[in-house]
Amino acid sequence: MDQKRFLITGGSQGIGAALVALARKAGHAVVFTGRHDDTIGQVAGETGAFGLQADSSIGDDNEKTVETCQEQMGGIDVLVNNAASWYSAAIGELDLDAMRRLFDTNVFGMVDLTNRVVPFMKAKTKVPEGGDIVNIASTSGTKGGKLGTAYAASKWAVRGISQCWQAELRPHSIRVISICPSEVQTRWGGRVGRNNPNKLYAIDIAETIMAALNMHPRALWPELSVFATNPWKED
Ligand SMILES: NC(=O)c1ccc[n+]([C@@H]2O[C@H](COP(=O)([O-])OP(=O)(O)OC[C@H]3O[C@@H](n4cnc5c(N)ncnc54)[C@H](OP(=O)(O)O)[C@@H]3O)[C@@H](O)[C@H]2O)c1
Repeated sequence: MDQKRFLITGGSQGIGAALVALARKAGHAVVFTGRHDDTIGQVAGETGAFGLQADSSIGDDNEKTVETCQEQMGGIDVLVNNAASWYSAAIGELDLDAMRRLFDTNVFGMVDLTNRVVPFMKAKTKVPEGGDIVNIASTSGTKGGKLGTAYAASKWAVRGISQCWQAELRPHSIRVISICPSEVQTRWGGRVGRNNPNKLYAIDIAETIMAALNMHPRALWPELSVFATNPWKED
């Protein structure tokens, strides 16, 4: 892959931060977002990427994000919609406001940001490589489970939206890639202290994303699930 300009939402920790580091190591320009200055500053300092405090559930912040990419990099070749939030509750006890807030980030925020980026990507398709959009879904979006009404529904939506965008954007040479990780040992959902060498780490998903992007631009990997081979193994 030639040098590209990446925008990665939620790049201040976890999978997003691992991808920021990998993309920078491969020589790409990167702008990433997050909501907390301390973690943004840490990733920016370690990688040389440009970190921006921006909440992807807020339209004005998404406008600022696209403007910042223009200022810092002159555009966006690769958009990675990674930022997401978590809420779980059983039906009968669901807080609809909490579910709406989750959808504001996981679904509407992703759509709003992409809606702002795609016109620039389409305008650029005079060159052979139109652009790439990577949406981070989840295996929770392939199979419903207990307490998953809000989160699983949002990730099913991410997968369905990705298919719509593929239908619309392939004729513009823009690839849309949906990645469905199984459990990854990040701070996701406030969890800490997981370090099982048989389970997935953030770097595994970052490497998967780079592998999909590194395919020749004529080849599209529309959706990909990533599982740990043997997460039941005891060391
Ligand atoms: N970990 C897993 O087991 C797993 C499995 C399947 C799919 N996924 C998906 O993988 C993606 C990354 O998850 P992760 O495990 O890396 O989680 P994480 O460690 O909690 O990181 C999430 C990142 O997103 C940012 N973020 C959250 N809400 C945001 C918002 N509204 N605007 C901007 N940034 C926001 C967070 O920073 P701030 O808090 O500072 O905003 C953080 O940088 C998510 O889409 C998640 O659904 C995770």
